[in-house]
Amino acid sequence: MLEELKEVSCQPLGDWKRTHNCSELTSADNGSEVCLMGWVQYRRDHGGLIFIDLRDRYGLTQVVFSPDYAPKAHEEARVIRSEYVLAVRGRVRPRPEGMLNPNLKTGEIEVVVSEWKLLNTSKTPPFLIEDRTDVSENLRLQWRYLDLRRPKMTRNLVLRSKVAMAFRKALSDDGFLEVETPFLTKSTPEGARDFLVPSRLNHGAFYALPQSPQLFKQICMVSGLDRYYQIVRCFRDEDLRADRQPEFTQVDIEMSFADETQVMDMAENLIKRVFHEALGTTFSGSFPRMTWDEAMDRYGSDKPDTRFGLELCNVTDIVANSGFRVFASAKLVKALKVPGGESMTRKEIDELTEFVRIYGAQGLAWIKIRENEWQSPFAKFLSEEERNGLAQRLDLQIGDIVFFQAGDPGMVNAALGALRVRLGEQLGLIDENALNFLWVTDFPLYEYSEEEKRFVACHHPFTAPKAEDLDTMLSDPASAKARAYDMVLNGNEIGGGSIRIHEAAIQRKMFKALGFRDEDVEDQFGFFVQALEFGAPPHGGIAFGLDRLIMLMSKSSSIRDVIAFPKTQKATCLLTNAPSTVEPKQLRELGLRLREEAKAEAASEKTAR
Ligand code: AMO
Ligand code: AMP
Repeated sequence: MLEELKEVSCQPLGDWKRTHNCSELTSADNGSEVCLMGWVQYRRDHGGLIFIDLRDRYGLTQVVFSPDYAPKAHEEARVIRSEYVLAVRGRVRPRPEGMLNPNLKTGEIEVVVSEWKLLNTSKTPPFLIEDRTDVSENLRLQWRYLDLRRPKMTRNLVLRSKVAMAFRKALSDDGFLEVETPFLTKSTPEGARDFLVPSRLNHGAFYALPQSPQLFKQICMVSGLDRYYQIVRCFRDEDLRADRQPEFTQVDIEMSFADETQVMDMAENLIKRVFHEALGTTFSGSFPRMTWDEAMDRYGSDKPDTRFGLELCNVTDIVANSGFRVFASAKLVKALKVPGGESMTRKEIDELTEFVRIYGAQGLAWIKIRENEWQSPFAKFLSEEERNGLAQRLDLQIGDIVFFQAGDPGMVNAALGALRVRLGEQLGLIDENALNFLWVTDFPLYEYSEEEKRFVACHHPFTAPKAEDLDTMLSDPASAKARAYDMVLNGNEIGGGSIRIHEAAIQRKMFKALGFRDEDVEDQFGFFVQALEFGAPPHGGIAFGLDRLIMLMSKSSSIRDVIAFPKTQKATCLLTNAPSTVEPKQLRELGLRLREEAKAEAASEKTAR
């Protein structure tokens, strides 16, 4: 490959200037002399002519080297290979009859070259630069600059930029002030795990990268800034999934003197405007609103995909005294009816059973409704009364299959909720072009953490309780509700926010409910509670996940496809090989020592003695 590079030498740009990009020229330009620059997408030799598709961010233009038109340019063109960088000067002319490409903006013309420059060569790329690549994602991430040359990836970044611009414009028009908040900040408990940065000037002390600018944006409200926004990077050291990255971008918003209706109306109008500007989408009416209780009941999820039915049905009361012990002993029994699903094979059912195990289910009970018969491993344990009760509540018809999940409510909802989504996809019930927005409101204030054996904040500890729960938030945490709301799009949480606690006394009460001792509150959140004591206005806000939003807008299957330089599932960057080890000197400056080194040193000291 090096040989190949040595053979040809590059030329300087000199005074050549682009006249057009590679997606601009049409038959209206026939006869013009133009100058294009870009990368060689394809090269084809045909009866003495050399054809090249020249590519740039904007598109492709067919470029022709002809021995009759410009013999020298044609002769020299023999060295051209894929991904070489060229500047060509030539004349726009119509493509010959039969060579028109209606799929291309420039498909009616070609540029016949009079002279050209080789601006740079390229090694043979490890994969073809085109949308239809079936290379592994790791290879794409390793060669990200080549991957980003693929039109689909470029399009995603263009959309991302357009959406960010639309947010900025709309928010700025609406009086929101863009304020930057620190990346080197204080580690505070609650939320996900922090990324830590050791301080060189203060050995033993660490900054944390912000999981979100939550405290700073609230402090901006105390500062009287009234309306704040920021398109900001957030950092969370959590386990990654297709819709999660360790660093991701939020459109973060906060406003003073507003209640939940005002924040939600603002956020909804903002999203409508951004979709309109970026995709031309128009919406009629308001986004539906659903309480968290209803979402869990009907969909087993706090981010329901409402593009299809298959709703869950609570049948606990019907089977409370069932002869089927799995049902009788359960806190919650829910059913999921699949109309016409009776033809599902044993193998398919087994696969679904394996699937729900991911969510902690022990198994998956099912009944096929047949003429004169309920086929099922356990139907024989059901009484006549139970059968009638189920048939009526579920409106059972011949040909249906019903799945049941019994047990702890968290598990039942998680397992059946996920099964519902899987079946929706598997059975093709989802309209891929639909945009189903939904507000989920009235979240619980706390959720019980089995791991920590205490209540933790469901949203975050700065979320205000509902007025009616203020008195009982300590005595009856399990039933307290929050003034929190999430915006959901097609089953994805694209934004979340809340009205905040703005009174110091209530904030202290909140920390108490979360099990903080007074001295810990002082130590960890003292600066913040103190700020609330200096005339904090009532305020609330929301943050949108920009990456998730662009993923959905571009119909990508992973947020990695809409982030220029994302991390892998193991939080590594394959392009730069971050994270990597550092020099011992760097560690010494930070006052740090790796545990392995410390061990080795201790061992060698021992032998020296
Ligand atoms: P929350 O934690 O719900 O709220 O985050 C807001 C939105 O950010 C997106 N998001 C993520 N996107 C990619 N990767 C991640 N790891 C990730 N985590 C979250 C989601 C989510 O809806 N400070 C509050 C907001 C507020 O109360 O105003 C907050 O951060 O789309
Ligand atoms: P078992 O009595 O454990 O053999 O279970 C009988 C049937 O109930 C099997 O089809 C299991 O897959 C199913 N099953 C077991 N546990 C549950 C559960 N918690 N919820 C729903 N079905 C279950």
